[in-house]
Amino acid sequence: MRTQEHIPVRLQDYRPYPFSISHVSLVFDLHPTRTIVTSRLIIDRKPHEWAKGEALQLDGVGLDLLSVEINGQPVAAQDYHLGEDGLTLKSVPDSFKLETKVAINPAANTALSGLYMSAGRFCTQCEAEGFRHITFWPDRPDVMSRFHVRVEAPEADFPSLLSNGNRVAIGQYDDGRHWAAWDDPHLKPSYLFALVAGGFDTLEDQFTTRSGRTVDLCIYVDKGAASRAIYAMDALKRSMTWDEEVFGREYDLDMFNIVAVSDFNFGAMENKGLNIFNSALLLADETTATDADYEAIEAVVAHEYFHNWSGNRVTCRDWFQLSLKEGFTVFRDQEFSADQRSRAVKRIKDVKALRARQFPEDSGPLAHPVRPKSYVKIDNFYTATIYEKGAEIIRVLQTLVGRDAFLEGANLYFDENDGTAATIEDWLHAMRTATGNQLHGIERWYDQAGTPCLEAISDYDAATQKLTIRFQQSTPDTPGQSSKSWVPLPISMAFFGPDGAPLQLRLAETDIAADDWLIPMASTSLELQFEGVADRPVVSYMRGFSAPVRLITNHSDADLALLAACDTDPFVRWESTQTIARNTLLSVAQSLAAGREPDVRQDLARAFQGALADAARDPAFTALLLRLPDVSELMQLQPLCDPSNLLAARAFVRSLLAEQLDAELSACFAIYDPAQAFSASAQAAGQRALMAACLDLLCASGTDRAAMRAENTFFAARNMTDMMTALDGLSQFGGARYHAALAAFKQRFTDNALVMDKWFRVQAMALCEDPLQTFKNLRVDPSFTLLNPNRVRALGGAFASGNPAAFHRVDGTGYQAIADLIADVDSTNGALAARLGTVFESCSRVNEPRQKLAKRTLQVLLDRNSLSANTREILSKIYDGLIA
Ligand code: BES
Ligand code: ZN
Repeated sequence: MRTQEHIPVRLQDYRPYPFSISHVSLVFDLHPTRTIVTSRLIIDRKPHEWAKGEALQLDGVGLDLLSVEINGQPVAAQDYHLGEDGLTLKSVPDSFKLETKVAINPAANTALSGLYMSAGRFCTQCEAEGFRHITFWPDRPDVMSRFHVRVEAPEADFPSLLSNGNRVAIGQYDDGRHWAAWDDPHLKPSYLFALVAGGFDTLEDQFTTRSGRTVDLCIYVDKGAASRAIYAMDALKRSMTWDEEVFGREYDLDMFNIVAVSDFNFGAMENKGLNIFNSALLLADETTATDADYEAIEAVVAHEYFHNWSGNRVTCRDWFQLSLKEGFTVFRDQEFSADQRSRAVKRIKDVKALRARQFPEDSGPLAHPVRPKSYVKIDNFYTATIYEKGAEIIRVLQTLVGRDAFLEGANLYFDENDGTAATIEDWLHAMRTATGNQLHGIERWYDQAGTPCLEAISDYDAATQKLTIRFQQSTPDTPGQSSKSWVPLPISMAFFGPDGAPLQLRLAETDIAADDWLIPMASTSLELQFEGVADRPVVSYMRGFSAPVRLITNHSDADLALLAACDTDPFVRWESTQTIARNTLLSVAQSLAAGREPDVRQDLARAFQGALADAARDPAFTALLLRLPDVSELMQLQPLCDPSNLLAARAFVRSLLAEQLDAELSACFAIYDPAQAFSASAQAAGQRALMAACLDLLCASGTDRAAMRAENTFFAARNMTDMMTALDGLSQFGGARYHAALAAFKQRFTDNALVMDKWFRVQAMALCEDPLQTFKNLRVDPSFTLLNPNRVRALGGAFASGNPAAFHRVDGTGYQAIADLIADVDSTNGALAARLGTVFESCSRVNEPRQKLAKRTLQVLLDRNSLSANTREILSKIYDGLIA
C-alpha cells in the first residue's frame, strides 16, 4: 500500500474564520528576485462566543518574514509562531491593525502559483491557494475583503502596472520607478487577487452596459500580437451582452482587463476585473489558429467573464463547493456557445468531451463526487467531474423545472447570495424557493460518485396494441462508496413508426397524448405503458442527452439504423450512428483477437452514406457523424482490454469504409475550395470540418492517391485549420511526404510557440512509424522545454492520451517514458506533473500484463521521497486500483 503521508482536508471539519478583515492594503515593491510585499490589515474578532480567545492564524508558504507589527508596534519574536505553512499570533486584541513585510523571489517560482515571472513580466495565479505564496493571509475563499493595491516597479522594464478593480492613481519617482494604485470596491477572497507588470501591446474597446455604465475593455498581449486579440475582444463583448440578456447580469467595474501570458498552468483565470489567460486561449488569427482554437477562445473568454457573477460576486464558502462556481459557469458558457453557434453541434461536442474525460474518471480509481468529502491537494480537484458532471447536474435541474423557472431560481440565487461565500445548499435553496419544485433526491447527484446506468427495455405487444417500457437505474460502486440510491433523471423521449415518422402515443389509462415526453424518473425503477399503439414504435430515449447516464436499451440494429436516419433530434441521430459504430468496432475487435476474418455488417456504411448524402444541410453535424469512436472510448467498453487490438479494429473498419464510400467521400471532399476567403464563423468552420472528416477517412485507404490529396491540401492551405487537417492526414502515412510537410511547418512557424505546440501535438499523436521513438526524439528536440506547461502537455499529454496503443505498449516502455517525463516535470511544477499523472488512470482498463507493468512503473515513482504531494496523491490512488 502506498500510504498518503499528507493529511486530508475534510468537509465535515469546516469552521468559520474567527476574524473579519474589512480592508487590506498591499504594497508591491517589484523586483524579479526580491520583491517586498507590505500588507496592512484591519482586523476584527467576530462577535461570537466561539471566536473568543481564538489565535490569529495566517497562511504563508515560502515567505521571508521581515517584520510584524500590531497597531504600529513591533511584535516580539516570542509573541508569534512562524511555521512551515503560516504565522500564528496567539493573543491578539479584538480590533487591531496588522502589518507584515515579506520578501519573495518571483524569478525562482517555477510552480507558477503565486507571483512568478513569465517572459520577463510579473504575473500571478492565486486560485486555489497561491496567495499564501505572496503574503500572510487567511487563504480561504470565505474570508472576503476590500483590496487596495499599490504596485511599484522600474518604468522602462514594466510600463504597465495592473491589479484588480479600478485604477485610482499613478505616479513617478525620480529614480525611474513608477507606481499605480488600484482599488477594488467589491469584497473578494484572496484567490481572485491578481497583479501583472510588464510591457505589452494592447487592444482597447468599450462596452456600455444596459444601465448605461461605460466599461473600458483592454486586452494586454505580446508586442506585435494585438491584431490576434480581435476575436477574443469580440467574444468578450458578446459575452457581456449575453449575460445581460439571458441571466440579467451586468458588469460592475469601470474597467475590464485581460492579460495573455505564455507560461500558465491552466486555461484561464477569472481574477476580478483582471482576467489572466494562457495565450493559447486568447490569441488567434486564421494563419495560426484552428477552428477548434477559435471555438475554445470564445468559450473560455465567456467562461471567465461569466464568473464575475457565478464565482466572484457569489463565491464559494470552501473548496468542497468548487462545482458551485465551476459547474455552473461551464453550464453558462455551454449555453452561450450554443446560442452563438449551432445548439445541436455544441451539445454533441459537449457530450463527446464528457464521455472522453468524465466518464472514465467516474469509473476508475480517481472517481469522486461532484462535492467531495475530502481532498489532499485542492489543485488535483479541478477535475472533469467537478466541471463537466457539475454542469450536467445544472442542466438536469433546468430540464426538471423548465427554462423559465430555472432562470428565476438563478436570479434569486444571485440576489440572495451577492457579496457572500455560498454553498451548494444555498444554490438548491434558491432553486426550490423560486420554482416550488422540491427536487427530491437532487443532492445525490452531488454526493454520489459514479455514472448512473439507465436500462430501458421496451416491449410491444401487437395483439393488445400496447407498448411497455421498463426503466431501471443503478449507480456502480466507486472507491470508498457503495450501495447508492436513485438520482432524479429527466427522461426525454419520442417515438417513431416503421416509416420513420414521429408517432403520437397515449399513456395507458389516461387521455394524455403527445409526440414528445419528459418523464422525471425519481425511483429505482419505473414502468410506462402506452395504449392504442397500431405499429411497433422505435423509442428515442434521452433526447438531447437529457441526463449524464450510460444508456442500455434493447434496440435492434434495425432500430438504431432507423433512428440514425429519421430521428428529429440531431443528438439521437448522432448517438445512434455512434452506437452502430461502437457495436461494429467491438465485434471486429473480437474477430481479430480470435484470428477470424471479421464479418462487417452494412449498417455503418449505410448510415455514413445517408450522412454524406445529406451533408450540405449541416456540414458541421455531418462531420461529427463521420468520426468513429476513438480507441480510448472503446477502452471504456471492454474491461481488461488490449488497446492495440482496438486500434487494429478501428483501422480495419476505417479502411473498409474508405474503400466502400470512396466515391461519396471524394465528391464531398472535392466540393471544398481551399482558396476561399476565410471566415471564423461556425458555418465556415463546419465546411472545413466536413472536408477534414472526409480527408481523414480517405487517408485510411492507405492509397497513394489519398496521400497526394493530403499533401496538396497542405501546400494549398490558406489557414491553420486546413493545414492541420492535411498534416493529420499525412501523419497516417508517415514517410517522405509527411516529413517534408513537418519540416516546412517548422520552418515557417519556428518563432511562434503556440503553433509549435501543434507541431509537437500532431507528431505525439501520429500512429505512423514508431510512435514511442518519435516521442523520445521530440523529448530531446531543442525546442522542447519542461518549463512551459503548454509544451509539456503538447508532447506528454498528447502522447499518453492521444496515442493509447503506444502509451499502453505491451512491453511497458510507453509507461516508462511518461513516468520519466512526470518525474522531471515534478521537480519544478508539481501541479502540472500531477495533471500529467492522471493519464495513468487509463491503465485500470487494460489487461493484466499491462496493469502489472504500469503498477511497477508507478511504484518506482512513488518510492521517490522528493515526489510532490500533488503527484503523490494522484499516482497513489491510481496505483492502489491496479492489479498487482
Ligand atoms: N477558475 C478556473 C481556473 C483554475 C483552474 C484555477 C484550475 C485553479 C485551478 C477557471 O475559471 C477555469 O475554469 N478555467 C478552465 C477553462 C474553462 C473554460 C473550463 C481551465 O483553466 O482549464
Ligand atoms: Zn471556471
